[in-house]
Amino acid sequence: LARGAAAPDLAGRHVVVSAGGTREPLDPVRYLGNRSSGKQGYALARTAAARGARVTLVEANTAIPDPAGVDVVHVGTAVQLREAVLKAAADADAVVMAAAVADFRPAAYASGKIKKRDGVEAPEITLVRNPDILAEISAERPRPGQVVVGFAAETDEVLANGREKLRRKGCDLLVVNEVGERRTFGAEENEAVVLSSDGAETPVPHGPKEALADTVWDLVAARLPA
Ligand code: CTP
Ligand code: CA
Repeated sequence: LARGAAAPDLAGRHVVVSAGGTREPLDPVRYLGNRSSGKQGYALARTAAARGARVTLVEANTAIPDPAGVDVVHVGTAVQLREAVLKAAADADAVVMAAAVADFRPAAYASGKIKKRDGVEAPEITLVRNPDILAEISAERPRPGQVVVGFAAETDEVLANGREKLRRKGCDLLVVNEVGERRTFGAEENEAVVLSSDGAETPVPHGPKEALADTVWDLVAARLPA
């Protein structure tokens, strides 16, 4: 851990973290998915527990064992993740949406395996929008004073897009990861900046995911009502 034995500054708090990537089924054997590993979300869950919080981790399709001392809820799809996060958020002091949530899901689920047949065109798959969980929680704040955190990976105009996304989502903090190539001081692709709704920007140097997680919890702790 980046901080070693951290002060239990989250003792008595309940935090909810989502991690991993949703899968949207097409038929019993196929899905639309993404490449999220869930490691950042798990680092957030572990560091929050180390700082004394009660942690609910809503996990989608990771291959990581349940961390000790954390309540883990396993889900598959965006709709399931929304249900689990909203339920846990009802009494949460903070909600951190580290999961990669599919923006769209197939409009129809085929209960039998989709088959190809000679002389028949490839099927067209119609998609529908998934609910935006971060925007919904930011708007509703199931618990007064709740701190809501989002994540975003951006390739271009990282800070400008991040600011716009923070405003659009209505969350308190947005962790913006730079992905792709950027002409800065050497390899900084994984450098993150935490944008705050009060205009503050906290750069987090390239380093272990626990260090970024601890910075997120520092910023969350500073915003929690006494
Ligand atoms: N998110 C969410 N529900 C969705 C999509 C995203 O809660 N249906 C959350 C993610 O968990 C993340 C944040 O919103 O914390 C930003 O996700 P991102 O994909 O960057 O934002 P989008 O609004 O989906 O914008 P884009 O079109 O760039 O994908
Ligand atoms: Ca998205």
